[in-house]
Amino acid sequence: MEAIQTPLLKVTIDGIEISVPPGTTIMNAARKIAEADAQHADKVPPAMCYYEPLKSSGGKCRACLVKVAAGSEKDPRPMPKLVPSCITQVQDGMVVENTTNPAVLETRKGIVEFLLLNHPLDCPICDQAGECHLQDFAFEHGVVDTRTQEERRTFEKHDLGPYIQLHMNRCILCYRCVFTADQITNQRVHGVLNRGDHAEISTYIEKAISNDFSGNVIDVCPVGALTDKTFRFKNRVWFSKPVDAHRNCEKCSGHVTLWYRGDEVIRVTGRKNIWGELKEFICNTCRFEKKETKDWVIEGPTQVQRSSVISANKYGKNLIAKPDFALKLAKGQYKKIDDSRPYITEEDTIRQLSIENNKLANERSTAQD
Ligand code: SF4
Ligand code: FES
Repeated sequence: MEAIQTPLLKVTIDGIEISVPPGTTIMNAARKIAEADAQHADKVPPAMCYYEPLKSSGGKCRACLVKVAAGSEKDPRPMPKLVPSCITQVQDGMVVENTTNPAVLETRKGIVEFLLLNHPLDCPICDQAGECHLQDFAFEHGVVDTRTQEERRTFEKHDLGPYIQLHMNRCILCYRCVFTADQITNQRVHGVLNRGDHAEISTYIEKAISNDFSGNVIDVCPVGALTDKTFRFKNRVWFSKPVDAHRNCEKCSGHVTLWYRGDEVIRVTGRKNIWGELKEFICNTCRFEKKETKDWVIEGPTQVQRSSVISANKYGKNLIAKPDFALKLAKGQYKKIDDSRPYITEEDTIRQLSIENNKLANERSTAQD
């Protein structure tokens, strides 16, 4: 019997058209556009709670709101309110506006403000600094000033065992760690207790999270609420060098990223894709107990986006091995400084220029590969 082909649905996001299977969300359609052409990375709405490998994630933070300017070909009326792109499925002929819609950008400023209402501004001492999704979200979509004077919410400290540190003050209640514990481990002992502004991640009667895959909650946490006790305060992430490595492991795939400071492995994490999501969940033995180079087969440097602060101080192999190449590159990038340029203080322009510069840096680094 011939297999029945389901027709693809056409959706347009910020003017770029793509065909996707029924059931695809707007967020995943946008990601497909960006995966096909990195130039369109700005078509992808930000996500603070959605995490593709975790079933039922999304719909909590509202960071990904977009405007549906036409619902479908059959019913082209716009949707009356902005919709969360991570849980809204596309329809045939749907037209979506992400960064091209001023109302979306304005709303995102409000969402950043809302997420930061109770989030402490302790990036200088937070281990997540440099790989924090809230930092990126605030930089790309937030406002510079704060309008709040009230004290931020604070919580009692909870001990989550020997490996995981919970810093509840930083939690944005995205529920990713709860879904991870539910879906990846066989005994979830933590969850969200209480409601409203009393809601908090907690282990009931302070039970330690002690099963073989519990360490993954650290990797999925978008902020510094759950951190690795074996790595805390050891190093800033941009001073460490990430390297892909693997080992034969009975419990997981053993594919990890090792983070080096000099010759020392200071941290082991799962490998993440370009959306910051784990490709595979790894076990606690690989994550916390294998911190020697001899435990691993090294595959090579981890690909880090040029615009990421993690790539700071890391040089492409061409620049080290071939000084001529470095000189040519420097010559090609040389730009005479134009002193007549206006002095820019307007924050939207500064942000736009930074986004464009990051884009250019990414393009240059892809061209060198
Ligand atoms: S601890 Fe982290 S992963 Fe868990 S709900 Fe809070 S922000 Fe999300
Ligand atoms: S990422 Fe869509 S609501 Fe959080």
